[in-house]
Amino acid sequence: MQGQLAMEGALTARDRVGIQDFVLLDETTDAAFLSNLTKRFSKDLIYTYIGTLLVSVNPYKELDIYNNKQMDLYMGVNFFELPPHIYALADNAYHTMLTEFNNHFILISGESGAGKTEASKKILQYYAVSCPSTTLLNTVRDKMLMSNPVLEAFGNAKTLKNDNSSRFGKYMDIQFDSQGDAVGGHILNYLLEKSRVVHQNHGERNFHIFYQLVEGGEEGLLHQLGLERDCQHYDYLTQGECAIVSSINDRNDWKTVKNALQIINIDEININHLFGTVASVLHLGNVRFDSDSKGRAQLNENNAELRWVSDLLGVDAHSLQEGLTYRKIEAKKDQVLSPFTIDHAIYVRDALAKAIYGQTFTWLVNRINESMENKDLSRKNVIGLLDIYGFEVFYVNSFEQFCINYCNEKLQQLFIQLTLKAEQEEYEAEDIEWEPVQFFNNKIICDLVEEKHRGIISILDEECLRPGDATDLTFLERLEERMSNHPHFVTHKLADKMTRKTLERGDFRLLHYAGEVTYCVVGFLDKNNDLLYKNIKDLICQSKNAIISESFSTMDSDSMRRPETVATQFKSSLLKLTDILMAKDAWYIRCLKPNESKQPGHFDEALVRHQVKYLGLMEHLRVRRAGFAYRRKYEVFLKRYKPLCPATWPHWRGLPADGVEVLVQHLGYLPDEYKMGRTKIFIRHPRTLYATEDAFEKCKHDLATRLQAKYKGYKAKGEFRKQREAATKIETCWRGVQARKERDRRAWAVKVIKKFIKGYMTRGQAKNTDNSEYLAFVRQNYLNRLKGNLPKTVLDKTTWQTPPAVLAETSEILRKLHYRLMVRKYVRGITPQKKAQFQMKLLTSSIFKGKKESYPQSVAQPFVDTRISEQDINMRVLQMIRNEHIKYGVPVIKYDRNGFKPRPRQLVLTQRAAHVIEEANIKQTVPYTSLKGISVSNLTDGIVVFHIACEVPKQKGALIMQCDTLFEFLTKLSIIANKQNAIQVVHGSIQFEIQAGKESAVDFSSGQEPTVYKAKNGHLMVVAARARTR
Ligand SMILES: Nc1ncnc2c1ncn2[C@@H]1O[C@H](COP(=O)(O)OP(=O)(O)O)[C@@H](O)[C@H]1O
Ligand SMILES: [Mg+2]
Repeated sequence: MQGQLAMEGALTARDRVGIQDFVLLDETTDAAFLSNLTKRFSKDLIYTYIGTLLVSVNPYKELDIYNNKQMDLYMGVNFFELPPHIYALADNAYHTMLTEFNNHFILISGESGAGKTEASKKILQYYAVSCPSTTLLNTVRDKMLMSNPVLEAFGNAKTLKNDNSSRFGKYMDIQFDSQGDAVGGHILNYLLEKSRVVHQNHGERNFHIFYQLVEGGEEGLLHQLGLERDCQHYDYLTQGECAIVSSINDRNDWKTVKNALQIINIDEININHLFGTVASVLHLGNVRFDSDSKGRAQLNENNAELRWVSDLLGVDAHSLQEGLTYRKIEAKKDQVLSPFTIDHAIYVRDALAKAIYGQTFTWLVNRINESMENKDLSRKNVIGLLDIYGFEVFYVNSFEQFCINYCNEKLQQLFIQLTLKAEQEEYEAEDIEWEPVQFFNNKIICDLVEEKHRGIISILDEECLRPGDATDLTFLERLEERMSNHPHFVTHKLADKMTRKTLERGDFRLLHYAGEVTYCVVGFLDKNNDLLYKNIKDLICQSKNAIISESFSTMDSDSMRRPETVATQFKSSLLKLTDILMAKDAWYIRCLKPNESKQPGHFDEALVRHQVKYLGLMEHLRVRRAGFAYRRKYEVFLKRYKPLCPATWPHWRGLPADGVEVLVQHLGYLPDEYKMGRTKIFIRHPRTLYATEDAFEKCKHDLATRLQAKYKGYKAKGEFRKQREAATKIETCWRGVQARKERDRRAWAVKVIKKFIKGYMTRGQAKNTDNSEYLAFVRQNYLNRLKGNLPKTVLDKTTWQTPPAVLAETSEILRKLHYRLMVRKYVRGITPQKKAQFQMKLLTSSIFKGKKESYPQSVAQPFVDTRISEQDINMRVLQMIRNEHIKYGVPVIKYDRNGFKPRPRQLVLTQRAAHVIEEANIKQTVPYTSLKGISVSNLTDGIVVFHIACEVPKQKGALIMQCDTLFEFLTKLSIIANKQNAIQVVHGSIQFEIQAGKESAVDFSSGQEPTVYKAKNGHLMVVAARARTR
């Protein structure tokens, strides 16, 4: 059962805002009930369950819970899975219908303005969106949806409680085929409040359609109907003094209604007739009567309003005038016209207006039914929507309230029967002993009202039919006579002292299941009779207005049998309805209004408490909770709670029922707290379930933690394994790649080495494929080596790298090139001075190279311009030789010719001669012309001998000197005096003349220590240092 499913949703949600299901309230008191309702209302949670019953509180503001997204959310979802919503109820009814293939109805009840009509519209919209659709079905659906604005225009009105109050009861069947498509619809209407047509209380309006027509009707139409665009002009529209209210836009609604009329297939002609009847009522309301002297009502046949009525209804004006002012009494064969008083005439006029409007409304409902009818005879299932007036208690309650409250009493009875029936059936099916449920059964009140011959309605009818002067008060007396001992019936006369104070003499009070209501009997008879006099009825039947003629002719005016009274009609239609409903599965929506001022967010607790009471919500709750509050299929119960018992967790291998038994034993359920049915466990108190649920919550956490840990471990392990596998794979791949690379490298190396070896072996051969690379390598290798080891100076002749055979020639060329390059570089770096020096050195070389031992050492010593500067020469000497041009000067040691005494002297070479100078004296001048020869030894000594021609006057023979810079001196001399050929290198000794004819010699030898001395043979002995050999 859905009730129990709902409970589960409520269980899981009970810690949110209040409790989603009143069944699970800890205590079933008004206070607890209201507190839960208030809590939820304050959070805009307007829906709460009592089992499958939906309690709805009018939010008086648009809530964003009716969009397509919400519809999708609730579509096909189990009742208990989502927060309470009207869509959940609609969807659940729909799906139960489809799966169980049976019929359902949704009873929407509640006080005027509590949101019943809105609720029924929401359900209709839900089906329009959620059911499967085809183009054909869409038109059916449109008609169902569009029947609403039409019925509301004609059947709703502004009241003090609701700007759009439905003034009729409505039961609408939606027919579904086996696929779940909405394929047709049918409407039953109940007890339209016709009195509103002719009378409205202050602050209330007539039915919307009148204002819509006057305000919104096109000019042409108004003209054709003889109407003025001014509501104030019409008596029937102005009694409430609020024809125009800001909350209602009659003009817009008019357009909607016109459009809707087309969609529900009402053709142009009928639309004209329809507005004709509406207009005729307005005109009728403006018909006024004059009185003659005897107080009889007078009406001129040419009265403009009368004319319009006769035109619009297509009846004879005279007959109409007569019908409104006389009653035709048929006595035997004669007809007697009995004139009306003005009041009576007005009564008749109003009765006609009410009848016209009432019949028109019925006609309209029939038309809508025709347009929604599904002519296919295959089996359909239906969901009925019952939007019926709720219990009404006013300050003064009249016949209408009596009917309405009777209706509610019947519906409560129906609810009790259905619920108890369902309960009992379930108990029987489950083989559980039926325990009588403690609740108030209102059958006694239903009987009080409706029982044949004894009920209030029967007594009322009797009074209405009784010949003689029956009045409302005689009716009351009858009631007092017949009901005197009834516990639910009180009047002023029957009451005890205390109660009497609260009752008027014309009142009777019924103790309804929802509370006491005091009714004032005034008008009961008239309203129950609701009669039209025969003459006027006959006249109307001849109407040329098709709607009127059609609907009045079915009232069997011809038959002499009295038509049924209103109450009896109502009673039988309710009985029919009860039959219709009893054959169906019931769903309930109870609407509550939170305050009287239509304000959002305001919760008037007293007002709501009152409604909770008379909607019987507490009764409902008690019935729901009587016996067992909770029941559940064994499988489902076990599945949810099996973690609570080690024996059932994680798997129970036996029968589910046994598993449940073990489980509840483990949980410590007491024997009277639960019962085991055939397929279900029944739990008596919510608290037992709560305890179980709490344990489950706790256990769920533990379990969740354990599962989570396990799962995390498992996941981590898996992850790790995956990573490890991946790593291994990558490694293997990488290793493969490396190995292949290595293999390739080795193969390559082998090839290269092989080639190298082969190249090496064939290196001597001419270049061929085998050795070309090797040779190239050798070449490159050699050149690289050579590059890094080139000789740095021209003189370095040893550094050159030894070339391999193939490069011998190249190497030689390179070598030469390199040396040339170095030489070139060197030469480029030589200055003119250096050049001159080299030339001198060249000269020196040509004279001494290979001849004198000390020569090699001298090569590196640079020559200087002179060894004695002019300052160092004595001024006198300088003056004597200046004009000869001094070219070179050098200090020497002069050896005497005879004694070989060494004397230091300056030797200065001029252009013309060599001068031997001592201080200020020129000791000897040797003109170059007289210089015959110059001798030096081959050894390392510095001895120079000038051979001078002795015949030359003043010349004293040879000049023997020792000079440290011998080569420089002699080279300069040979250049200045052009004497290179005169220089001789002598071995052993140098012979020379001391004076003409007298010779001496200088003997040379090599020794350890260089010395110069006069030898015993009179020669000058020169020991030269032995030349160092390199
Ligand atoms: N679910 C709802 N959401 C928003 N407003 C609502 C809702 N139900 C009712 N109302 C408001 O309350 C007014 C009266 O509702 P209605 O269904 O006509 O009452 P009832 O048919 O019970 O007399 C609506 O016109 C609307 O303004
Ligand atoms: Mg309504």
